This record gives sequence, C-alpha cells and structure tokens, in this order.
Amino acid sequence: MEQDGRQPLSGRVVLVTGASRGIGAAAAKRLAHCGASVVVNYLQNRERALEVLNEVEKEGAKGMVFQADVTDQAQVDDMRRAVEKTLGQVDVLINNAFFPFEIAPLHQISWHGFEEATRKELGALYNGVHAFVPGMIEKKKGKIVVLSSRLAQQPLPRLGAYAAAKAALEVAATTLAIELGPLGITVNVVTPAFTLTDASTVMSEEFKERVRKNRPIQKHLYPEDVAGTIAFLAGDETNMITGSNILVTGGSHLQL
Ligand SMILES: NC(=O)c1ccc[n+]([C@@H]2O[C@H](COP(=O)([O-])OP(=O)(O)OC[C@H]3O[C@@H](n4cnc5c(N)ncnc54)[C@H](OP(=O)(O)O)[C@@H]3O)[C@@H](O)[C@H]2O)c1
Repeated sequence: MEQDGRQPLSGRVVLVTGASRGIGAAAAKRLAHCGASVVVNYLQNRERALEVLNEVEKEGAKGMVFQADVTDQAQVDDMRRAVEKTLGQVDVLINNAFFPFEIAPLHQISWHGFEEATRKELGALYNGVHAFVPGMIEKKKGKIVVLSSRLAQQPLPRLGAYAAAKAALEVAATTLAIELGPLGITVNVVTPAFTLTDASTVMSEEFKERVRKNRPIQKHLYPEDVAGTIAFLAGDETNMITGSNILVTGGSHLQL
C-alpha cells in the first residue's frame, strides 16, 4: 500500500470500534499496513484485542487497545481521553462494532429486542460522533466510515430488528455527510453482504453454501475482503467521496 515510498495513512489516528474480531480486526491490520496508528476497541475479548494490537505493531504501526461499550456515552468519552493522551486526536472513526440481536419475525419479536437493536446501532454512532467530531472540526478534516449490512436494503425473514436498525443507521450517516461536509468531514457507508465471521455463525452451513453459490463471484466473503474498502475510505484518495455507500457483496446484490 506504499505510494511513492509513503504510506497513505501515516500520521493518522484511526479508531475502529469492535476491532477484536471479524471485519474490525481485519480493518485494524489493513489500516496499520497503510501506516495509521490504530485504536483497537473491544467489549470483552481483551486477549483477542491484544492479538490484533500485536499484528498492528508487526506492521511497524503504533496502536493501543481500549475496552469500552460503545453504546455507553461515558465509556466512549473515557476512550477519547485515553486515545488523545496516547496517540493524539482521532482523524478517522470506523463505526463497526456488531451488536447481537433478537432473531424473530417482527410480529412476534419482543419490544425490548426490536428497540434494543436500533438503540445500540444508533447509540454507538451517536456516541462516536459526539466524542470525535469536535476534534475533527478543530482540524477542519476528518473521516467517518459506517458499517451497514445488505439486509438494510434487502431484508430476510426473522432478521428484521437488525435490518431496520441498519437502515436507520444508513440514513443517519447520509444526514451526517450533508451536515459535516462543509466542516471538512466525509461520512461514508460500507455495506457488506453475508461475511464469514463470528456474527454469521447463527446461519446454517446450507445457507452459507447457498449464498456462496448464488453470488456472481462464487466465493465466500471474508473480513479481509471488506477491510480494503474501509482503508480506502479512510485515505486521501477518497477526499471527494462523501454520502456514498460501497457494496462489498461479490455481486450478490445483483441476484434476486
Ligand atoms: N458478518 C456479516 O455477515 C456482516 C454482514 C454485513 C455487515 N456486517 C457488519 O459488519 C460489522 C462487523 O461485524 P462482524 O461480523 O465483523 O462482527 P463480529 O466478528 O461478531 O465482531 C464483533 C465485534 O464487536 C465488538 N463489540 C460487540 N459489542 C460491542 C460494544 N457494545 N462495544 C464495543 N465493541 C463491541 C466485539 O468485541 P468483543 O470481541 O470484545 O466481544 C467484536 O470486536 C458490524 O457492524 C456488522 O453489522 C457484518
């Protein structure tokens, strides 16, 4: 990823929420490869977060781990203070953490399960934006990348709480792009289709194989396949891209 001997993200501090596993972990490694200093946020898995930090440091990049529940504003504010002390102000926020949700038809789902999915998805974005955008406004520069899901546009039965929450997240991200553009901040969405991570273990082997076979590029999607797009949106090559939604689907969005 070196361009003219220069790493495209050198000097940037990038915070990845939910970076101990899955897409966040792959993004953290990829961002470090591009020269960024990386904050590996996690909720419970300190060991896994430390393994990711080890990979970040192997790339010659700086990094830190920080345990914070991103749905809790006070914890996100604590994380901001710790990051500023250790690495400096956050230049790029990758809003990635995955929140397990109640799986049920919407006419049978509990109100708690339905409401919690949206509260967590929107709460995490709200908390990240409120903690890190003021620093970006000071610098007149910043980037926010929001992870959605293909289910927001093409829902499946029993996954409606998550799909509705991600659809709301996408509209919030688009609104932020309009509001923050004049302040020098871009906001974009990355929409993966079904990707093999811990979050996808709820689906059957038969489902996974059917998804693989039906997409034009007949391969499984892995976290590393999504990480490159996240790193691309974090860099200067995308300074004029805002309010966009990049689908990483292997073409499955073209199929009925
Ligand atoms: N996998 C897919 O098929 C798929 C498809 C489309 C979109 N996505 C989206 O891609 C993103 C990443 O998903 P993934 O599949 O990579 O997830 P994953 O492998 O299950 O990893 C979840 C990550 O989120 C962290 N996390 C959970 N709750 C948190 C909280 N309250 N505060 C901070 N961190 C928290 C976990 O930390 P611990 O390890 O400490 O628990 C872990 O690092 C999500 O936004 C998801 O909706 C995934």
